[in-house]
Amino acid sequence: MLECRLVGAVLAEATDSLKRANIADARREALTIWASLAGLDIGQVWLLQQETADAPMVERFGRALARRLAGEPFAYVVGTAGFRTLDLAVDSRVLIPRPETEGLVERVLAWSARRWTGGVGSWGTVVDVGTGSGCVALSLAAEGRFRRVLATDTAAAALDVARHNYETVAPGTPVEFHLGAGLDPVHDAEPDVIVSNPPYLTAAEFAALDRCVRDYEPRAALVGGSDGMEQISALLFDAMDVLAAGGLLAIEIDSSRADLAWRLAREAGWHSARVEADLFARQRYLLATKES
Ligand SMILES: C[S@@+](CC[C@H](N)C(=O)[O-])C[C@H]1O[C@@H](n2cnc3c(N)ncnc32)[C@H](O)[C@@H]1O
Repeated sequence: MLECRLVGAVLAEATDSLKRANIADARREALTIWASLAGLDIGQVWLLQQETADAPMVERFGRALARRLAGEPFAYVVGTAGFRTLDLAVDSRVLIPRPETEGLVERVLAWSARRWTGGVGSWGTVVDVGTGSGCVALSLAAEGRFRRVLATDTAAAALDVARHNYETVAPGTPVEFHLGAGLDPVHDAEPDVIVSNPPYLTAAEFAALDRCVRDYEPRAALVGGSDGMEQISALLFDAMDVLAAGGLLAIEIDSSRADLAWRLAREAGWHSARVEADLFARQRYLLATKES
């Protein structure tokens, strides 16, 4: 039982349970779970350690801890995930943003800064296909100087999360959210940049994932058809019609299919297609510009 104890004792017990479950950084996780439930930061929780923990809070903490010990991802238990400069709400309706996707945003920002100059609104229009939590679109709206930012997803529930994050982040540039597949909802937007982190695993790769991903994160956010290439292929062919001349197509891909993605891009007419590696030297970003 975790009731009627000092906060420090409750946290120590929770840390031991997390350690026994082989969770790395157990102490930080315990503190962060408490902090997220209490609406405090970790520093404030440190200062509470000698205080008596109130029973309802101990109960809520116990329930959250049980979810973590059952294998639920830490980000879902605390309800937030960091992405570039943003702190975003996440739950089982959306994929937890991954660090490698920050590199995709980095490339779009760098390309756009080279292509355009000037302040907010002086860059072109960008579309984020498969926005999930909104991490890519919202980062581009917050860090870039785009005139227009659009975001699509086939999952209405994911768009609800993205819209909530939009209200919290409140970037200078408005973001328009659209329900629908691929570029269908934005086919007349004439985007200058199309960016996407689409589902790109095969069904077999999904089945082999660690259960804390497979059992909790949305399958539709991870599996790109039986060969993992369904959404990438659709984007490569559709973007050729929708993207403005001289525009950029930037797609996150699975490194094990980087060659296949590059060949498909060439077949679809992207003569400038190239693949760039992430910080771990994995072939991760397919980049191509449309001829003017
Ligand atoms: C890998 S997640 C990426 C989420 C977010 N952009 C990120 O980087 O964390 C893929 C997202 O694409 C959505 N999706 C799947 N198929 C789609 C399609 N054909 N068109 C648009 N979105 C799609 C999923 O619902 C999911 O939110």
